[in-house]
Amino acid sequence: MRTPIILCLSVCLIAAGCGPMDKGNSEAVKKEMEDRKVKHVLPSQITDKAKERGLAITDAAQKVLLQTLIKKIESEGILGAVEYCNLNAFPLVDSLSKANHVAIRRVSNKWRNPKDAPTDDEVAIMEAYTYSVEQGQAPREEVFMEDNSTQVVYTRPIMMGAALCLQCHGTPGKELTQEVADKIKGLYPEDKATGYELGEWRGIWKVVFEKKELVLEL
Ligand code: HEC
Repeated sequence: MRTPIILCLSVCLIAAGCGPMDKGNSEAVKKEMEDRKVKHVLPSQITDKAKERGLAITDAAQKVLLQTLIKKIESEGILGAVEYCNLNAFPLVDSLSKANHVAIRRVSNKWRNPKDAPTDDEVAIMEAYTYSVEQGQAPREEVFMEDNSTQVVYTRPIMMGAALCLQCHGTPGKELTQEVADKIKGLYPEDKATGYELGEWRGIWKVVFEKKELVLEL
């Protein structure tokens, strides 16, 4: 919340200018005071902003993960890439969270890293997604905003969009070689993220915004 402080400073400086205030100056003060008034924004403007920023942030995150993954597979093969994801998926996503002043995470009902399992707060969201998938609908992006919460939550489905994904999330003995399956089991003894098919719903991206940050951008 830097803006109000800067605005306040400029108001104070104008007000503290030497000599009696002439008309021009007092007009400037009036204008400045009006600018400082709390913005009246509609909830729909906030959800639209959350969608716009959520989409851009998750696009960027997806791109970074995919590009890094492809590079690693090319240089070190699938086994090396599994190890790389194990060490770097979280730091990569965390650095994007910091850069964007949000909390980004991936959530899956059939997770590989136990940290990606739904938390108590996320169970209802995941149930809603599961329900729409079971109904044969394509999962969609959503925004959750409660009146008395200071946060706004954006979610977006992650799909098994490429054959490449199945090399580490497909069926062992089929797309997933025994060697890769063993490596994954070693790193993630509780792994649930195999047996996926191409085009299947995999989980969600979740981005938590501070509501006031979104309002400031309107
Ligand atoms: C080289 C193997 C490999 C490939 C290829 C791969 N993944 Fe993963 N994936 C992993 C590993 C390892 C993790 C766990 C990362 C961690 O520990 O944070 C993971 C985690 C995930 C997660 C986080 C949820 C969870 O289960 O923990 C999602 C979502 C995901 N992968 C989707 C995909 C998609 C979509 C593709 C294709 C674009 C893909 N993966 C390709 C190895 C792979």
